[in-house]
Amino acid sequence: MNILVTGGCGYIGSHTCVELLNENYNVIIVDNLSNSKKEVINKIETITNKKVKFYENDICDLIELDKIFSKEKIDVVIHFAGFKAVLESVEKPLKYYRNNIDSTLTLLEVMNKHNCKKIVFSSSATVYGNPIKLPIKESFPLHTTNPYGTTKLMIETILNDLYMSDKDWSIAILRYFNPIGAHKSGLIGEEPNGIPNNLMPYIVKVANKELEELKVFGDDYDTKDGTGLRDYIHVVDLAKGHIKAVLKVIKDKGIDAYNLGTGKGYTVLEIIKSFESVNNTKVPYKVVERRKGDIAACYADISKARKKLNWEAKLELDDMCRDSFNYIKNKKDNRR
Ligand code: NAD
Ligand code: UD1
Repeated sequence: MNILVTGGCGYIGSHTCVELLNENYNVIIVDNLSNSKKEVINKIETITNKKVKFYENDICDLIELDKIFSKEKIDVVIHFAGFKAVLESVEKPLKYYRNNIDSTLTLLEVMNKHNCKKIVFSSSATVYGNPIKLPIKESFPLHTTNPYGTTKLMIETILNDLYMSDKDWSIAILRYFNPIGAHKSGLIGEEPNGIPNNLMPYIVKVANKELEELKVFGDDYDTKDGTGLRDYIHVVDLAKGHIKAVLKVIKDKGIDAYNLGTGKGYTVLEIIKSFESVNNTKVPYKVVERRKGDIAACYADISKARKKLNWEAKLELDDMCRDSFNYIKNKKDNRR
């Protein structure tokens, strides 16, 4: 089986490539390195002791993508490539619509031409906006609050319309909750440029003394300790969910969306506590105003993924906190 992974050098893509190779799939990565580094390829190969094929291309480039599909016999595509920074998407909406939508349309056109009609797509829990109740089920109403989220919802709509027009397609839409953690080797992980927006990358930089203190965005939410509550999932569990989704699209035609989370919610203060205790370190913090646009709580109903994909997250919050920090410590050690 040949699996084409768009955005395979990125955070979730690289972990998924490792799991695919571990399961003996052939992996072909297309990535333009707009948010990743080429050295990730070597790291994936070191971890797995297997080879990957790598094309440094923009998937908006129809001609080059068409050549790749002519050269390789692709069975299934996992489509990670896209921009993902919520705040930037508010400031530069056209950049997000152009890259996320254009790349997907180009990819789907080329797949159609080459009669490759099996795709797993990276969506996000952001498509639920402010959920009507918890836990969140896939059938809940969808709406978005920023251009990034809107690109995800638009792509879900495009995929639905495509399937309605041609029932030969097999499409799995994966709605990720909050991926954190890293591979236990410490070789691959999450590396946002500049000051991180998301909680775990920020905590890691504070613990690593690159940033002074964490700002906790509000402690007056309707949650157990007043701080925001989210469904954090270890990226390796998430990657394994993709293997199950690949099996699903190989087996069954159709289109379906699945929540990938743990089904459990943790508050910001619980994350800090777990991080400090498992890593034997301190994360200085101060409580500040709520972040505009944030919701109080968000966690998944995971029964559909459990039943239909035969998948469930196994790793715990302590594993997530330990592996997130291990990646950064390992990088620092390697620079010495
Ligand atoms: P990432 O930025 O680490 O990886 C994305 C990869 O895609 C990068 O390597 C980048 O260079 C590449 N890329 C972007 N545009 C491209 C293009 N036009 N052509 C070729 N390559 C391109 O992001 P990630 O965290 O690994 O996320 C992967 C996917 O999952 C994204 O679609 C993201 O929106 C989605 N997602 C991520 C999260 C999260 O918290 N990380 C949550 C929900 C959904
Ligand atoms: C963010 C994105 C969302 C995306 C999700 C998963 C925003 C507004 N939303 O949501 O679209 O789907 O990541 O990648 O960026 N927090 C702090 N201090 C910080 C950072 C975060 O207290 O410095 C708090 C937040 O208020 C929240 C929790 O930590 O309660 C998690 O925040 P974050 O990691 O940014 O994820 P989401 O808010 O779920």
